Amino acid sequence: MKPDSLIYVAGHRGLVGSALVRRLRAGGFGNLLLRDRQELDLTRQAAVEDLFAGARPEYVFLAAAKVGGILANDTHPGEFLRDNLAIQTNVIDAARRHGTAKLLFLGSSCIYPKLAPQPLREDYLLTGALEPTNEWYAIAKIAGLKMCQAYRRQYGFNAISLMPTNLYGPGDNFSLENSHVLPALLRKFHEAKETSAPEVVVWGTGTPRREFLHVDDLADACLLLMQRYQDEVPINVGCGRDQTIAELAETIRGIVGFTGSVRFDPSRPDGTPRKLLDTTRLSALGWAPGIRLESGIRSTYAWFLQHGP
Ligand SMILES: NC(=O)c1ccc[n+]([C@@H]2O[C@H](COP(=O)([O-])OP(=O)(O)OC[C@H]3O[C@@H](n4cnc5c(N)ncnc54)[C@H](OP(=O)(O)O)[C@@H]3O)[C@@H](O)[C@H]2O)c1
Repeated sequence: MKPDSLIYVAGHRGLVGSALVRRLRAGGFGNLLLRDRQELDLTRQAAVEDLFAGARPEYVFLAAAKVGGILANDTHPGEFLRDNLAIQTNVIDAARRHGTAKLLFLGSSCIYPKLAPQPLREDYLLTGALEPTNEWYAIAKIAGLKMCQAYRRQYGFNAISLMPTNLYGPGDNFSLENSHVLPALLRKFHEAKETSAPEVVVWGTGTPRREFLHVDDLADACLLLMQRYQDEVPINVGCGRDQTIAELAETIRGIVGFTGSVRFDPSRPDGTPRKLLDTTRLSALGWAPGIRLESGIRSTYAWFLQHGP
């Protein structure tokens, strides 16, 4: 990538897309092609075709997707499958046909088999049954990274896929209905503190183990991989450490300053028991995350206080 290369960040207003824009600008890449959903609905093939035929971006970061937590996946399975399949098919295909030099597609750690050995290595993909609560999203994402592989083999298209772990950071979705666990907990503890509630109820048993990466670290890894990674095999992006949901809740409770108690609700689903990525391949490229979990949560809470949910 050169400083004046035309770079399309699809989904630039989302958690990942906005971090990519920050990182690209900070790295001196200022020729960015950005369209929000009102300007361009990526599920509409003809509209995506028009954008690529007209602008012909040289590099594409595909960070647009329909994303959500367990509840959202469970209640809108059709939308998760349809929208994600449509977005990625339209963008990858148009990029290939209109001369894009390289495309980076974002998979996710939640598309590994539910009971795969831990830490999760890239070659565990498609070796077992998926976690049922997000299988619709997972099937779509697996199709996306397979499309990148297939287009590389058939057309020589330079597309790579990343498998990021759970992300968090400024611009996250803090909705109580369809957010991920970390922003949902930040908001719950914050509101409990504001209303002097006696307790906070946390979904599930608190025992599942999860890994979290600050989205600015992910954006940094994306830039490195766009420049240096050329393999058809998806590559994990994580920090290599995990903790239980109970430990995470305790960290957030402390940062927010909530003094009540925490109760776990085992009638709610836990999801996959453990999800930790093996980051050996990424580490071999010389990359390591720079933001520790506690300081990342502190700055994310400061962002939340400034911007609200
Ligand atoms: N968040 C995580 O923990 C995590 C972990 C691993 C992988 N990932 C992957 O990272 C990628 C980005 O996730 P994110 O967390 O940044 O999600 P996000 O905050 O929900 O952002 C998604 C973006 O996609 C846009 N979008 C959705 N549907 C669209 C459509 N039909 N047309 C145009 N734009 C559309 C959204 O636009 P609006 O703002 O207008 O809705 C939003 O800007 C996804 O592929 C996800 O699978 C995320």
